[in-house]
Amino acid sequence: MAEFKEISPNATAGEKLGNWFDNRFPTAGAAYRDHLSEYYAPKNFNFWYFFGALALLVLVIQIVTGIFLVMHYKPDAALAFASVEYIMRDVPWGWLVRYMHSTGASAFFVVVYLHMYRGLIYGSYRKPRELVWIFGCAIFLALMAEAFMGYLLPWGQMSYWGAQVIVNLFAAIPFIGPDLALLIRGDYVVSDATLNRFFSFHVIAVPLVLLGLVAAHILALHDVGSNNPDGVEIKGPNSPKDEHGHPLDGIPFHPYYSVHDLFGVAVFLMVFSAIIFFAPEFGGYFLEYNNFIPADPLKTPAHIAPVWYFTPYYSMLRAITSEMMYALIACVVVAAGFGLLKSRLGAITKAVVAVAAAVAVVLMLSIDAKFWGVVVMGGAVIILFFLPWLDNSPVKSIRYRPGWHKAVYGVFVVNFVMLAYLGVQPVTEIGGRLSQVGTLIYFGFFLLMPWWSRLGAFKPVPDRITFAAH
Ligand code: HEM
Repeated sequence: MAEFKEISPNATAGEKLGNWFDNRFPTAGAAYRDHLSEYYAPKNFNFWYFFGALALLVLVIQIVTGIFLVMHYKPDAALAFASVEYIMRDVPWGWLVRYMHSTGASAFFVVVYLHMYRGLIYGSYRKPRELVWIFGCAIFLALMAEAFMGYLLPWGQMSYWGAQVIVNLFAAIPFIGPDLALLIRGDYVVSDATLNRFFSFHVIAVPLVLLGLVAAHILALHDVGSNNPDGVEIKGPNSPKDEHGHPLDGIPFHPYYSVHDLFGVAVFLMVFSAIIFFAPEFGGYFLEYNNFIPADPLKTPAHIAPVWYFTPYYSMLRAITSEMMYALIACVVVAAGFGLLKSRLGAITKAVVAVAAAVAVVLMLSIDAKFWGVVVMGGAVIILFFLPWLDNSPVKSIRYRPGWHKAVYGVFVVNFVMLAYLGVQPVTEIGGRLSQVGTLIYFGFFLLMPWWSRLGAFKPVPDRITFAAH
């Protein structure tokens, strides 16, 4: 046991209480210092750095409103829809709690997409923050699972048919697919058994995983220190420090950034409340109109689309037709051929690459396009995990990259938004083609990154961060 710290008998009651507490629970004080009052963050954070704190806020909103919803919700196929209507009409403030939770789900994705984009443009995923990024990607996967299972709970038409479509995708996996889909549903169709297991995952299993991952994400970040818009390390061995060893380009998180983040929270809450009070369903984008019709296993809606945050991936799934498979095969053949021609590999390695490409082509031709659609959809998320090893640029931040790199990021964003839009729309000839081009651009951005990220004239990176007091 550590020795008790004495305090002057003349100290204030508050100081005495603090000392009493610190002697009995020093870990709390140490955590406060390590993560708040003595956590030095770069002093040039801009608005992009609000979104981590906002993601934490939305996480808390979802957990608290979720707890109140569970008090009145019935996870039973015969009662679920009516229990949600009961919450909306009869439970005091139930409409507010439900809308906070349903709008909160969309807010979560808006905030997290912006948070990820910040990481992308400032190279925050690069050494030494690879694990921070990987934990982030795992959070993103867990968040998708959480939102997908939550959407089944109101047991409306879209809940039911959306789940039916997505779970059926698993059935396309060769050999294990049909059994896997059965295991997920707990039945041959989406039913009460599915509702019960999704409820259990949504309210406890996935939130626990999410909380654990968020803790790992922040602890890993605080071990290596935050990146910043210049991508300059402030805690490196050669970075300037004061006589206490604190970085000259850093300021304590608390009170400087806690107050700064409060401003972001205030702006966020204004926008969030405006949506909750004036457009909680957001024109059918946050809660689809079909979901106000009770689930009917005998009546398939004419047009089934997931909620907006899944639609970029849904577009990629729909883009993989048999015809698109030929385009993908051509890409594999060209890439393998180009790799073989350009590489200085030995004859044996070249033969292995050629055989691997041939096996890939045969596999692609022999398995149904639907399965490859699932692979592409899953791959679109999984590829994010590899980003730290795809980027070969000599600088981290977009500020010091060649101008045309900014255009590449611009195309990526426009393309992602286009895929999201197309995913909400029914399939059309032109829409289908655009999704196919969009899928190629999305994967091209990442798969060709090792090559294009090295090209162009990079600007010199300053030794210290650029900061003008305001
Ligand atoms: C529940 C979801 C999430 C929460 C609560 C969360 C929380 C945070 C917080 C509080 C920070 C520090 C403040 C900041 O830099 O904005 C941070 C940093 C970071 N997060 Fe997240 N995060 C989440 C999801 C993600 C996801 C999905 C990714 C990427 C796939 C990600 C990647 C990063 C990176 C790379 C940093 C370091 C940024 C830098 O130092 O420049 N996070 N996160």
